[in-house]
Amino acid sequence: MDEHKLRSQGWFGRKGKDGFIYRAWMRKQGIAPHEFDGRPIIGICNTWSELTPCNSHFRELAEHVKRGVYEAGGFPVEFPVLSLGETLMKPTAMLFRNLASMDVEEAIRANPLDGVVLLCGCDKTTPSLVMGACSVDLPTIVVSGGPMLTGRHRGKCIGTSDLWRFSEAQRAGHMDDMEMSLAEAGMCRSDGHCAVMGTASTMACMVEALGISLPGNAAIPAPDAARKILAQRSGAEIVRMVKADRKLSDILSRKAFENAIKVNAAIGGSTNFVIHLLAIAGRIGVELSIEDIDRFSSDIPLIANLQPSGSYFMEDLYYAGGLPAIINNLLPHLHQDCLTANGNTVAENFSIAECYDPNIITTTDKPFSTMSGFVALKGNLCENGAVIKPSAASAQLMKHTGKAVVFENIEDYNARIDDPDLDVDESSLLVLKNVGPKGYPGMPEVGNMGLPAKLLAKGVTDMVRISDGRMSGTGFGTVVLHVSPEAADGGTLAIVRNGDEITLDVKGRLLHLHVSDEDIAARKKALPPLVAIASRGYVRLYQEHVQGAHLGADLDFLRGGSGSKVTRDSH
Ligand code: FES
Repeated sequence: MDEHKLRSQGWFGRKGKDGFIYRAWMRKQGIAPHEFDGRPIIGICNTWSELTPCNSHFRELAEHVKRGVYEAGGFPVEFPVLSLGETLMKPTAMLFRNLASMDVEEAIRANPLDGVVLLCGCDKTTPSLVMGACSVDLPTIVVSGGPMLTGRHRGKCIGTSDLWRFSEAQRAGHMDDMEMSLAEAGMCRSDGHCAVMGTASTMACMVEALGISLPGNAAIPAPDAARKILAQRSGAEIVRMVKADRKLSDILSRKAFENAIKVNAAIGGSTNFVIHLLAIAGRIGVELSIEDIDRFSSDIPLIANLQPSGSYFMEDLYYAGGLPAIINNLLPHLHQDCLTANGNTVAENFSIAECYDPNIITTTDKPFSTMSGFVALKGNLCENGAVIKPSAASAQLMKHTGKAVVFENIEDYNARIDDPDLDVDESSLLVLKNVGPKGYPGMPEVGNMGLPAKLLAKGVTDMVRISDGRMSGTGFGTVVLHVSPEAADGGTLAIVRNGDEITLDVKGRLLHLHVSDEDIAARKKALPPLVAIASRGYVRLYQEHVQGAHLGADLDFLRGGSGSKVTRDSH
């Protein structure tokens, strides 16, 4: 590409008053005049925040990206965007995913950037940045922050998935406050995001499988020197991507999405993968449905032994060869000719990767489980679909009919779940309404609702749970999620009553409410007005425009992109 045609030259290549202003105010930062000589300007989109502890090392990581950018002859400029901390943000970080994506999109388009490095880590920081960048479609590469070191408690390895076990143990009276405090001290021992195959790790694997990061990006632990080197190499790579004009849309083909779906199945990735991948596809203009996600994952077995589906942690995965070793095993199933960020094909990037530990990464002919990926359910209880992750579910509940125990919303659930008089037994199905995108704006991760205390005390460890909400990527259980249409949007879920019979048949891909069509229609007619819309602000915008989970819960007017051209230039 002719560097004189770089986008940034529309700012810094100008003469007269405008060029003076663009350059002079940048030079106050100590930038030398030769930096404006037509070299690629690389934006480093940083989600550093002390309120996003998983990304708290990103200022240092950005310095390593800058080294690579300088080394390859580019000029790096770091800028902040809204950072979404999963643990602290209320009501849920997911409410702000689309808002952050708007921030990213507009910040990239409005500024004199030729290419972008996205620094992503904690769960929502990856999809929000990728979604926003897709809608601009400049050359873009992702650098993930990397997982934390594995946690330790009483000599045992622990990770975020253990939190659910600790919580149930405490509710059942098997773990006291002192023990919880000891576990808390050992959970998060270093920089980095959650150390299991939760949503953050799933997202890091997703970008590597899509081809928009360098190979090896997903598993290198945050404190490992190799993470800094990967950041530096990515900084150099983005300069080459700009020179080659290799944009996101050149990499993110339909085939790249199919590859990501298969890789996600093999690693036992988070259910949140479904919702984020659909949203990203919508931004880049690739047609993708939850049925596609089911279809392309159905013949891929589980070959990674990682919590919550297996036993090990991301640090172990790195020592075993990382995601490249997994992708190497999957090559016969993948579109090997897909282009990736470094200009290589998938085959070129991954054909030499090796596995160093068969306990952690196995082969497709000797899988840890034939059950992987997600099953897209259909039926009169979820006309637009719902999702279940079989590898996190209990085999004996995969086909189950029972009576519904219904909670109208999360407050109702919290108030009654431990009521000794709750009419529930282990064959019941727990149904939680009004936690979908509109009903509980943001669609919180409450779908793997805790079991009734009286059943926990009896030793019950799993029950079928159904909701229009999401589940943490670190969660597990026989949990039907993302029921669409959601209750607050007039979905059939809204009319389920205590005692109604429901059948879940994972193999048959069915979620059926045993109520006649006529009765469903009559009950829907008698429903009270649907959810109240917030009176103002972003939440109002969100509720008025958010789409169903089956479309990725993006805002309707954000689908697609507006490109990188600034249409009106007042200067
Ligand atoms: Fe940030 Fe788990 S809380 S990745």
